[in-house]
Amino acid sequence: MKVKNTKRKSILPYIAISTIGATLLFSAVNHSYSGAASHTSKSGITTGTGSTIKTAAAAKSTGSTFLRDNAPSRTAKKNASGTLVVTNVSSTVVLVNKKRTLSPSYTPSDLVVPNVPFSFSGSSPKKQLRKPAATALEKLFAGAKKDGISLKAVSGYRSYATQKSIFARNAKLKGEAVANKTSARAGQSEHQTGLAMDVSSASVDYTLEQSFGKTKEGKWLKANAAKYGFIIRFGEGQEKLTGYSYEPWHIRYVGVWIAGEITRQGKTLEQYLEQFE
Ligand code: DAL
Ligand code: ZN
Repeated sequence: MKVKNTKRKSILPYIAISTIGATLLFSAVNHSYSGAASHTSKSGITTGTGSTIKTAAAAKSTGSTFLRDNAPSRTAKKNASGTLVVTNVSSTVVLVNKKRTLSPSYTPSDLVVPNVPFSFSGSSPKKQLRKPAATALEKLFAGAKKDGISLKAVSGYRSYATQKSIFARNAKLKGEAVANKTSARAGQSEHQTGLAMDVSSASVDYTLEQSFGKTKEGKWLKANAAKYGFIIRFGEGQEKLTGYSYEPWHIRYVGVWIAGEITRQGKTLEQYLEQFE
């Protein structure tokens, strides 16, 4: 549904300070509130909520209703074996981690291949992302290119079964303790949501290594991801909170407004969503 957003200029632009201290100026056009399965079009905000945002107060209250509805305690349910299973699977702010598992049968219904360069050729399910994330990734890559930064996408959507074999392979190669810090168990990966993409650059041979964070491409990504609706999901210094080592390459789509807030507040997605309990 299309949402008229003529007053957006007076509502949403603001200056956000990123965790590394860089100042990000989010323009009125780029920084619209982005709700469940939503994206921004030229004519306004398209949301999946059926609401019409016409005033600043309405935008704020729609935002907080959306975030309250997506707070961790409201979006998971214990199954018969005691596993906490995520219920808001198709929300753009779905929280998946070591304690919150996706059903093995969950496959997003709107997977598409974004029109961006990949580090490998040929078709593969891992080229896919959910539509809102794919559109945002295309914009991010275009923005990078404009700034003289060349990125390539490495790995996006992964099924439950694929994640299961990736974890098993890592555990065999590196031992379970290391595998636990670097790869998710089946059902616990954001890659199954279709909202995460691993990104790398020629400067590190398109590998997914922490050295990517020190390259100009990795620095650009950290400073600019939020403008396009992405967060660096497993931040440096957040290992105890996220349960994973620093992954400067793993970007997670949450929508432009929320990505700006999370980045400005220097929080993990867990910490951010807990505020709305
Ligand atoms: N590497 C991240 C944690 C994943 O496997 O989803
Ligand atoms: Zn990843």
